[in-house]
Amino acid sequence: MHIILYIFFLANLSVADENAEPTIQYIQVGVKERAPSTAEEILISEARLVAKLLKKKLGNTLKKSIQTSGVPASIKACSELAPEIAIDLSKQFDAKVTRVSLKHRNPLIGAPDSWEQLVLTEFDDNKAILSSNTILEKSAIVNEPRGFYFRYMQTLVVKPVCLSCHGRKSDITTAVESRIEKNYPNDIAKNYDLGDIRGAISIKKLIK
Ligand code: HEC
Repeated sequence: MHIILYIFFLANLSVADENAEPTIQYIQVGVKERAPSTAEEILISEARLVAKLLKKKLGNTLKKSIQTSGVPASIKACSELAPEIAIDLSKQFDAKVTRVSLKHRNPLIGAPDSWEQLVLTEFDDNKAILSSNTILEKSAIVNEPRGFYFRYMQTLVVKPVCLSCHGRKSDITTAVESRIEKNYPNDIAKNYDLGDIRGAISIKKLIK
């Protein structure tokens, strides 16, 4: 009886292991003038959670859309649903949650401001330390005319699913290419390879 129970226990363990999420290591890029305060640490954990939710929701939406309607029709999902998901999360966390890139597709919401540009460059400079279980991040408290803001960014890396819309010419079908050209005449979000930094999730929150 004991042996049977033990085997059952081991079998369960191996199932649990397969499904366990890999432990993610967060690496702050650049030099931080001083160690983050407890208040900033709390905001950083909240930002990590928001970023995780955004990635998960976007990933699921994209996967579902590609499976049911194919890649060309999913361009619409990216242009409508991705900003919607970001707006929902912004409301939920009382912050501005966006995705930005140095090579953006949508100049209206994908273009970085000056702080984001700097951080995106820092991320690119540190690309070598990225791996499947590391995420590069940056946080800061900045003083702007309207008050103090908590700012946070986290890398978005190119996965196989991204290539059909952000990859090289050989990864993108003509149907997808023509739709992108039609909807985004100034698109520069192409020619990415697997593992490249596609951009970042950016979170900006007014500190009251
Ligand atoms: C079905 C095509 C498609 C796929 C697949 C896709 N994207 Fe996009 N992506 C788009 C479109 C279209 C936009 C522009 C959305 C908009 O209008 O705001 C976009 C925008 C973005 C942006 C915002 C910055 C910008 O360029 O405007 C990021 C970051 C991004 N994608 C990352 C990714 C990542 C990472 C993956 C893979 C996990 C991915 N995308 C997969 C079509 C796609």
